[in-house]
Amino acid sequence: MSRISYVNGAYCTHNSSVIHIEDRGFQFADGVYEVFGVINKKILDYQGHLNRLFDSLNEIKIKSPIHKSAYVFHIKNLISKNQIKNGLIYLQITRGVASRDFKFPKNAKPSLVIIAKNLPDDEYQNTFQKGIKVKTTKDLRWKRVDIKTINLLAPVLAKQYAVDNKCQEAWLVDNEGFITEGSSSTAWILKNKTLYTTPLSNSILNGITRKTLIRGLKKNKLKLIEKKFNIKDIKACDEAFITSATQYIMPVIRVDSHRIGNGRVGKYAEIFRKVYMEAVKLS
Ligand code: PDD
Repeated sequence: MSRISYVNGAYCTHNSSVIHIEDRGFQFADGVYEVFGVINKKILDYQGHLNRLFDSLNEIKIKSPIHKSAYVFHIKNLISKNQIKNGLIYLQITRGVASRDFKFPKNAKPSLVIIAKNLPDDEYQNTFQKGIKVKTTKDLRWKRVDIKTINLLAPVLAKQYAVDNKCQEAWLVDNEGFITEGSSSTAWILKNKTLYTTPLSNSILNGITRKTLIRGLKKNKLKLIEKKFNIKDIKACDEAFITSATQYIMPVIRVDSHRIGNGRVGKYAEIFRKVYMEAVKLS
């Protein structure tokens, strides 16, 4: 079975899909993206991700190339054509193709690419059981990371720095020493049965998994405080986690050289995962 992707109105064989060399995504990172998780062929929190995509488009003044109601059709088609059971959908929109010039082109049509990817069924569970290690590094991103743009060089360098240090995620540290978020995830710590995560601002992405977990926590009367935390707080915490569309809830067992709890996955990891899975909306 060959892999199929959606490119500007057509379903194409993945390996032969092409984008123009003067696409503004390629030259300026002038575009936005979304990642939708897929479990058992169902899209996780479809509406939340779609709304955030439209917020991002609006912020950088790109008009959606297709009607808002048409996205679900193409995403579901790709899940079916690629026989995705568990995996993800990557969707990217750029300002389109035009001769290189910083200002917006007058007549370019935004480019839309949608890619589906299968993930091995046991990958998440295996990682969840072991937990992940995190490396902290300076947050070098621009000042509007609430917009999900494809301008990802700083997170790419941060993630590679983490990997070079035998970690799976980087936590980004702002100029005041607070953790903003992960290179591609939301950061959380647990202390005295209370979960802490950074409050929303232009300095973090409004995670859809974050939102769903918070909804679930409220329903289950579990304590959450949206407050910045720093390395000192991490050293004193009982458990730590990341969340994202593809990692759901993932326990963190080490941050830099500090063991979290006793260095093994704590009991709240399973509790929060259950809370999330019950709160997430499937389409
Ligand atoms: N990243 N913060 C950042 C910087 C992210 O890139 C992501 C997601 C999140 C979590 O957002 P959500 O819960 O909506 O996935 C937070 C995706 C998965 C990616 O870039 O691959």
